[in-house]
Amino acid sequence: MIRKFHITTFGCQMNEHDSEIIAGLLTEDGYVETDNRDDADVVIINTCSIRENADKRFFGTLGQLKKRKEREEDLMVCVCGCMMQQQHIIDTIKAKYPWVDVIFGTHNIDAFPRLLRNAYSEKTKQREILEGGGDIVEGLPAIRKFKSKALVNIMYGCNNFCTYCIVPYTRGRERSRSPEAIVDEVRKLVSDGVKEVMLLGQNVNSYSGGDTDFAGLIYMLNDIEGLERIRFMTSHPKDLSDRLIKAYVDCDKLCKNIHLPVQAGSSAVLKRMNRHYDREKYLSLVEKLKEAVPGITISTDIIVGFPGETEEDFEETLSLVRQVEYDSAFTFLYSVRKGTPAERYEDQIPEEVKHERFNRLVELINGISARKNRAYEGRVEKVLVEGPGKTGENIYSGRTDGFKLVNFYSEKDLTGETVDIEITRGKTFSLEGRLV
Ligand code: 5AD
Ligand code: SF4
Repeated sequence: MIRKFHITTFGCQMNEHDSEIIAGLLTEDGYVETDNRDDADVVIINTCSIRENADKRFFGTLGQLKKRKEREEDLMVCVCGCMMQQQHIIDTIKAKYPWVDVIFGTHNIDAFPRLLRNAYSEKTKQREILEGGGDIVEGLPAIRKFKSKALVNIMYGCNNFCTYCIVPYTRGRERSRSPEAIVDEVRKLVSDGVKEVMLLGQNVNSYSGGDTDFAGLIYMLNDIEGLERIRFMTSHPKDLSDRLIKAYVDCDKLCKNIHLPVQAGSSAVLKRMNRHYDREKYLSLVEKLKEAVPGITISTDIIVGFPGETEEDFEETLSLVRQVEYDSAFTFLYSVRKGTPAERYEDQIPEEVKHERFNRLVELINGISARKNRAYEGRVEKVLVEGPGKTGENIYSGRTDGFKLVNFYSEKDLTGETVDIEITRGKTFSLEGRLV
């Protein structure tokens, strides 16, 4: 009997990629992926600890599965990801959702097929969570979502301990893959038709593969024939080196785009966040980038309502956003994560104040995004086509070098090709264009 599996993924691109690997492992073991969770024999939920309400959504999803679990004895419910690295979550699952079959963590994805086999053969619950990150397991298979672009882990974990963040606890300390393993993987991807790689890590700037730093890795990848684009996500301002800025100038494949999380515009707040840079340092980095790489697009992450954030602090965030003129930004309402230092900070900000500030910030960011996108009207951009768009028949979507989403009309399926598109309209979150 061929069993079907379905994965629900919450959270960031790291999680997306972990799910691609889980899909690869199960496919190797003879399972088949299905789009329909109700149709799956093995249901996997890959969880996130960062996004707002991620825990509520996770437990809500588990609750929905309970009825099916009662009806279908053979259904396997498997949970993994960042939430599983937190003891209080495991305790909640044991107490309230004891029918979950398999639990594994972020450090032992490769163990999943074995745990699943045991769950079937022994008819017992399988729980295996490792504390820290052990050795990096190379060569795991992956089923990629896109034909032309691929996610590639270059490092795991984080040493930074920003006071609001759970990641150092759920993903462990920093470990880098060897440059050889990364180059090897990218070469294989390219021979498989991949044109663009997104290098992943919580803080790629602190990549350290023996003598190779992050900039060094970019130079190595830039030499791979057939590869068209290199991107990375995410970088920490404190580690953004002059060498990396120079790599933007020297390496034609490195996309002129950076995601540079600022988190807050006030130096006092940044200090309490333990970010190791202040407003001036961040702004001077942005200036350097804009000067060295004309036209670079910049996006960021911003947290609103960190404990102790005054109206003046918040206005410093607004003024920084105006000064940088971000192309886009992810905005987050601060929310407490159990076990982080900021949990104990006094002066938690009332919800209504957070929301009011959040709305003002989003309005400002959207206005800037729309204005910047309108400036693209009339320009011709190289677009790597990702596939059919969501806005209508014969509409395809892709990304510019600067990571702008472009929708355009085509009778021919151009998925995976790089095409010239004349931008006809700039909107807040995307561009519209026509094939040249
Ligand atoms: N509350 C709100 N936002 C958070 N982030 C991380 N932890 C929290 C939290 N406790 C945001 C940061 C980070 C992004 C991935 O999530 O902005 O860059
Ligand atoms: Fe979290 Fe800070 Fe590490 Fe980013 S750098 S993962 S925000 S601790």
